Amino acid sequence: MSKTVVSLALLLGIFVVPTSAFGLPELLEKLWPKETGQVFDTVARIPYNELLNDNPYVDPFIVHSMKNFGFFYVVDVPDYDASVEDEYLQQFFNLPEKVKADTEIKRHNPANKNAYRGYCPGLDDVEATLQYKEVFNIGPHETRAPFYDDSLSNDLEKLKYECSEANVWPETDNCTFDKGFKEVFQTGFDMRRNIARAFVRSISRALGFPNLPSLFSEDEFSAMGLRRYPVRSERTNKNMFSDFDGELLRELEHIDSTVTVLSTFNNGGLQMLYKNQYMNAPVTGDNAFLVNIGKLVEDIIDNQLISVRHRVIETAYTRHSITYFLGPAFDADISRSMTGYITEAGHKYRIFGEWIKDYLGAIELFYY
Ligand SMILES: *[C@@H]1O[C@H](CO)[C@@H](O)[C@H](O)[C@H]1NC(C)=O
Repeated sequence: MSKTVVSLALLLGIFVVPTSAFGLPELLEKLWPKETGQVFDTVARIPYNELLNDNPYVDPFIVHSMKNFGFFYVVDVPDYDASVEDEYLQQFFNLPEKVKADTEIKRHNPANKNAYRGYCPGLDDVEATLQYKEVFNIGPHETRAPFYDDSLSNDLEKLKYECSEANVWPETDNCTFDKGFKEVFQTGFDMRRNIARAFVRSISRALGFPNLPSLFSEDEFSAMGLRRYPVRSERTNKNMFSDFDGELLRELEHIDSTVTVLSTFNNGGLQMLYKNQYMNAPVTGDNAFLVNIGKLVEDIIDNQLISVRHRVIETAYTRHSITYFLGPAFDADISRSMTGYITEAGHKYRIFGEWIKDYLGAIELFYY
């Protein structure tokens, strides 16, 4: 065990013997990997079971990483192989356009009902778009709430109803694929939601914000996106140079909004801003997830953790990733921070539902 690990453990007051499968030294070694000279080597790698079981020993490591870097990894996920997800994702995007069109959102296929969940091609208008990617969006609902007229008396109620639109799943002439795709991504969705919620519980303990988890009691608008960024021609990437350092980008520099659980598989390219410099984030590989928070959540927790600015640099190959966002519940009050200050969003909105309404408007305009 390195000196850093020991001194950090002492500093954080970790004296209690963990009730986990690991002994303390092994657990600490995992949480705080050996330094090899790369800045992000010391980003915490938290075993899935320790996080999900609310093991408080992991809390200081998560907080330390989130305060310093704005992200950490969840590792050792039982019964999970990201390469299976990667294969299904690729198999879907490789389907004939005609088959994928059945799952398109209504902006692309007016015959369909869904506005958000489903397939968003997004490659047609290559001159105008900064977002050269295809996305398949999956939400938490398999069936839509029944339609009651009187429950839709105002715009917000209507939006809440719209948010609950049911998932669509591809129907091909390969039943094995159809069944496997649905199962793999329903399971993957639950896994990511569990991680995001366990993370919220962890920081609520560590930061002393006992009311934080209640903001996430429902997840009407949690969203998982399967993404493909095909190789671009010179013509299609002319808008995508970084204002920060001139680097050619795949995904522009941005800060997320809520809680993000990301899979990059073995695709490099993701860079996080650290001390005013963009640095490569280690890939999530076959058995890990990267977790970070966005601006809305940072404000709610009184800026105790960093919402990290990040980007994806241009890659010479078709790149895949899966994003998952856990937002507060539709009715959660996001106007006040945990200690009662007005949040930035709070100047305009009271509940998350009002916020998401504008946010989705922006997404529809710019992203799909
Ligand atoms: C059907 O899908 C399965 C699972 O994705 C795949 O292994 C198999 O090769 C596919 N069969 C055909 C005929 O494409």
